Amino acid sequence: MARAARERSEQERERQRLVTAAEPVGVLDTGFRTVLSRLDRAGLLARVSRTVDFDLEAAAMMKHHDAGAALLFESVKDHDIPVVGNVFATPASSEAAMGLDRDRLRAALARGIRTDVEPAAASDPPAQQNVWRSGEIDLGAQLPVLKHAPGDGGRFVTAGVLIVRDPLTGVRNASFHRLQLIGPDTVAVKIDHGRHLGRALDHAVEMGQDLPVAVCIGTDVALIYAASTMGALMPESRDELCAAGGCRGAPLPVAPGVSQDIDVPADTEIVLEGVIRAGASVTEGPFGEFVGYASPAGPAPTMHVTAVTARDEPVYHAINGAGRETIVLRKHVLEVAALEAVRPVTQIVSDVCMPPGGLHRFHLVMALSKRYERDNGMGRNAALAAFGALKDLNMIVLVDDDIDLHDPDDVAYALATRFDAASDLVVLPGMRGHEYVRTSRAGVGTKAILDASVPFESRADFERIPFAAPSGGELDAAYSGTTVLSWLGGEHA
Ligand SMILES: Cc1cc2nc3c(=O)[nH]c(=O)nc-3n(C[C@H](O)[C@H](O)[C@H](O)COP(=O)(O)O)c2cc1C
Repeated sequence: MARAARERSEQERERQRLVTAAEPVGVLDTGFRTVLSRLDRAGLLARVSRTVDFDLEAAAMMKHHDAGAALLFESVKDHDIPVVGNVFATPASSEAAMGLDRDRLRAALARGIRTDVEPAAASDPPAQQNVWRSGEIDLGAQLPVLKHAPGDGGRFVTAGVLIVRDPLTGVRNASFHRLQLIGPDTVAVKIDHGRHLGRALDHAVEMGQDLPVAVCIGTDVALIYAASTMGALMPESRDELCAAGGCRGAPLPVAPGVSQDIDVPADTEIVLEGVIRAGASVTEGPFGEFVGYASPAGPAPTMHVTAVTARDEPVYHAINGAGRETIVLRKHVLEVAALEAVRPVTQIVSDVCMPPGGLHRFHLVMALSKRYERDNGMGRNAALAAFGALKDLNMIVLVDDDIDLHDPDDVAYALATRFDAASDLVVLPGMRGHEYVRTSRAGVGTKAILDASVPFESRADFERIPFAAPSGGELDAAYSGTTVLSWLGGEHA
């Protein structure tokens, strides 16, 4: 292997060591308010001061600007609570929100995946500075719940982290589930295939009980990441409040609910407490989903809200279903989960990327640092481990570590120059994926490995053209873009 490539490999290995190091990030302040002020200081929080309608307008603006800064709608029609959206809509915002670069954010998330830190009781929890109990609750009037897309079946709470305790196992689970407003104190809860919330509800139903739940809107970001992590690395047996503590490097401060026996993160902006009712079902949807299509209306269980609590001057967090925030929230956690899944299989995976085109969820690019002939083929083994751990993955592209896997063009270059479909395409039919993928049969479809890595012994044949280092001179100022264009032939350029 050429020296430059060897050095790159060494750098990658060193970077990898940092990515997975246990404690490089210390104790983190992951409070939602802290996150908003970090974004503000980084110039990544744009304020909208004019009055915006909760009915389609706010969500439309979020969609239009979802490659940019977070949006704080200071004035929402008919409401006195501001709305914030696009908080985690780009990888850059996600990193700035935590005050960490990509590698350190990954290290914090890996710590959450590996480490349990029990929550600690908080006194005077801000989340309960204001309390409304049964009889005083009218969700649609009290909260600026958005209608997101014209085809949606109504107004949906979209950024609520639902905390439940499985009545059979006692394990606390945190997960995002959209809630459709059905009545003043009733919402429909959307629960997809295989969710741990669904299992806890099944157990409650079997035991003839309702399931106590706390919906946390605008909550601790370590909990938001624990709730976004799915698959083998966050199994049903894992207490996600402890995982959030692991990510923070300190206990998550919690308080008992005011109307339900459930722990609530003390710093949450707005909490809906209640029970998911065994056997009660309404029609939910349609709703514009993360895949960019609408999920149809269908039956869903209901939650009866027994208390609403909020901190003083709360802010309401909203996430567009078919927007970047929904998918970006999973980018870093799933990349870390993929690395953790392949690590026991082989050390040659130097980095992974969940690219935006695959909705940060369906496609994975894996960079391989092959050092010996015996490393040949290990990338495909690692890909199978990743498929096993993350069921929604449907395509994995393997590249060598001289490809910038975070640059989709460079990955396409590897496919163009190092991939031969007859020998490098591995097709795996009849595998379980996500049921929203419309080419699948209710989630069962084909997964594929595209192996654009070259055998170890052939790497010299694929060495990319090295150019000499520039001699250091700046471009001549007179050599402007206009000059180049006219030299290239004006409008024909
Ligand atoms: C913003 C957002 C909204 C989500 N909405 C839903 C939803 O409405 N229903 C659902 O089943 N999963 C939804 N999910 C996915 C689950 O919350 C997520 O997969 C979670 O990891 C599942 O938790 P579990 O592994 O504890 O079951 C959403 C995820 C995000 C990030």
